[in-house]
Amino acid sequence: MESATPVIVAIDGPAGTGKSSTSKAVAAQLGLSYLDTGAQYRAITWWMVSNGIDIDDPSAIAAVAGKPEIVSGTDPEGPAITVDGVDVSAPIRTQEVSSKVSAVSAVPEVRARITELQRSIAASAEKGIVVEGRDIGTTVLPDADLKIFLTASPEARAARRSGELKGSDVHSTREALIKRDAADSSRKTSPLAKADDAVEVDTTELTLAQVIECVVTLVEEKRAGK
Ligand code: DC
Repeated sequence: MESATPVIVAIDGPAGTGKSSTSKAVAAQLGLSYLDTGAQYRAITWWMVSNGIDIDDPSAIAAVAGKPEIVSGTDPEGPAITVDGVDVSAPIRTQEVSSKVSAVSAVPEVRARITELQRSIAASAEKGIVVEGRDIGTTVLPDADLKIFLTASPEARAARRSGELKGSDVHSTREALIKRDAADSSRKTSPLAKADDAVEVDTTELTLAQVIECVVTLVEEKRAGK
C-alpha cells in the first residue's frame, strides 16, 4: 500500500541528462506533482530581457528581482508557467534566454526569491512532488526523501539537446552546454552540485525508459521504507 505521507524527490544534474523527461514521467507514473525550477529561472530571465535590464549588471538585476510575479503549474502532464499573467512556456526556450539564464540565476537576490517560491510549492504538494533543477538536493530541499543526481557524457547530452532543438548542430550545442554548465557549477551561490546523500545515475548508456524505471524503483523503495 502507498504511504500517505507526501514524498519529496529532488532530481539535479546538468543540461541534457534527461532530467525533465525523467522527472515528468516519474511524477505522472506515481501521481505526484512536478516542478521545473529551470523554467522559473528562465522565466525571470525572460522578464529581465523583455524589460531591457542589463544582464551584465548584477546590481541592476538584483534591484528588480522581486518585481515579476512567477506562477508555476505542477501538473506533470502539462506544466504551465506564467509571468505577470502571461504564458511564457514557449519564449523561455529561445536561444536568447538559454544564453542569458546562467548570468541571471547567479544573482543571489534572484536565487533567494526563486528558492522561497520553490519551497512553498513543495510544501503545499499534498501527495508529494518531483522537483528538478541544479541545487534542489543541496540547497532548496536538503531534507528531500530521495535525491537523484543525473549525469551523462557531454557527447550524449549534446546529441539529446540537438534532437530536442530540431536542426541545431551537435558541435555548437555541445559548446553552449559546456559553457552553461561551467557557469552554473562555478557560481558562488548554490552552484550545480551533487548532494553527498544523492544517488548518482549515469544515463549515457541508458534509454529514457530505463532511467525512468530506475528512479521509480528508487522512489518505491523509499516509500516502502527500505
Ligand atoms: O534546466 P534548464 O536547462 O531549463 O535550466 C536553465 C538554467 O537555470 C540553468 O542553466 C541554470 C539555472 N538553474 C539554476 O540555477 N538552478 C536550478 N535549480 C535550476 C536551473
